[in-house]
This record gives sequence, structure tokens and C-alpha cells, in this order.
Amino acid sequence: MPQTVLAFAGSPRRGGNSEMLLDRALAGVSAAAPEAVVRKVVLNELRFVPCQNCGFCSTRGYCVYAAKDDMKGVYEAMDAADGFVVATPIYFANVSAQLKAMFDRCQSLWARKYLLKKPHPNAARRRALFLCCGGFRHDRFYQCSRQTVAAWCVCCDIKLTGELFYPSVDARGDIGKHPTALQDAFEAGRRLARPEASPA
Ligand SMILES: Cc1cc2nc3c(=O)[nH]c(=O)nc-3n(C[C@H](O)[C@H](O)[C@H](O)COP(=O)(O)O)c2cc1C
Repeated sequence: MPQTVLAFAGSPRRGGNSEMLLDRALAGVSAAAPEAVVRKVVLNELRFVPCQNCGFCSTRGYCVYAAKDDMKGVYEAMDAADGFVVATPIYFANVSAQLKAMFDRCQSLWARKYLLKKPHPNAARRRALFLCCGGFRHDRFYQCSRQTVAAWCVCCDIKLTGELFYPSVDARGDIGKHPTALQDAFEAGRRLARPEASPA
């Protein structure tokens, strides 16, 4: 089975800084593993309700709203994926609302794992790369974002194996002026696809 990589574009700004990072990482995935199936989800183009804490998933292990909105496809894609790339700008010291709303809807996966004791059968293979940028000069705002992404990974049985953060990146396209960011993302994508080929 070829590996399947699922990418989440968290920004509402198409072609913006975090999506440029994401696209380079996916190019790295394809360079290292041409047979890999790569799927990119632009969260801002999906329509789904935020988690309502209705409790349904606590006993059933799936979300009652999945049949009614675009999260159905996300759940299916997440279930099938063994590689994940998550890209977001920092918004008010955390990930974008689009990404956070998707994370919250993964409460059903938390319930499946921790309440129903059904970890993902492919847990040992599932890895993620986190890509992030923010307009401020320091990385203080990044700490919240990485905690949020790390928590999502744990709940979804995904090991967070790589992360890249770029501060002082604000105007559209700023990331392209960084001396190494796009190449870093490409290499990180390669490592996600072929961890065994990475230097120890
Ligand atoms: C609503 C909003 C909130 C933001 N909050 C922060 C912040 O807390 N810290 C920060 O470093 N940058 C913040 N920024 C700046 C963005 O992170 C920055 O412009 C980023 O490069 C946008 O990436 P994108 O092109 O992928 O959307 C904010 C931008 C917006 C629109």
C-alpha cells in the first residue's frame, strides 16, 4: 500500500505564507515518495459546525454531525492517512479558527481512543509535520499553537515528528523572502515521507 499523506491548510488566505510552506513540504513528500497519495484540504473551503459537546461521541465513538457536514470527508481521510502535514498562521497566539474548529471536532477520536479504548489500528505508522508562521518577531505566540497541535496529535494517535516555525512573516509572500524556509519545508516533507532515510 502506498503511504497516504493528508495535508491541512489552516489559513483563509489562499497562497499565503503557511500555504506556501505546506506546498513545499508536499513537494518534498512527492520527491521522496512518488508513489505516495497526497491530499490537501483547505479548511476554509469546508462547511462544518464547531463541536457542540453533545456527548454523542462519548458512547458511539463517532460524531453525530458527520452525516450533516463536511467533516465526514475529513474523518474518512484522517482514518486512511499515515502522514499528516498541518499548516497554520498564528492567530491571537494560537492556530487559526479554521484549524481549531477541525481539531475540536476530533473530540470523537479522543472518545474512541480514551473512553471506548479503541486506538487507531495504524497508530505506530502515523506521523505529522507542523508548519507555522506568525507576524511577530518572537516565538512566544508559537508555544500555544504547538501545544494545541501536539494535543490533537496525541488524541488522534499521530506522532508529531517534525515542526517548523517562522516569526516575522506577515505580508503575503513574506515567507518566500526567508533565506531557508521553503527549502526547510521541502526537506521536512522528504523526512516525513522517508524517515528511515534521515540522518539520526
Ligand atoms: C486575526 C489575526 C491574528 C493574528 N495574530 C497573530 C499573533 O498572535 N501572533 C503573530 O505572530 N502573528 C499574528 N498574526 C499575523 C499572521 O500570523 C501572519 O500575517 C501570517 O504570516 C499569516 O499567514 P498566512 O499568509 O498563511 O495566512 C495575526 C493575523 C491575523 C489576521
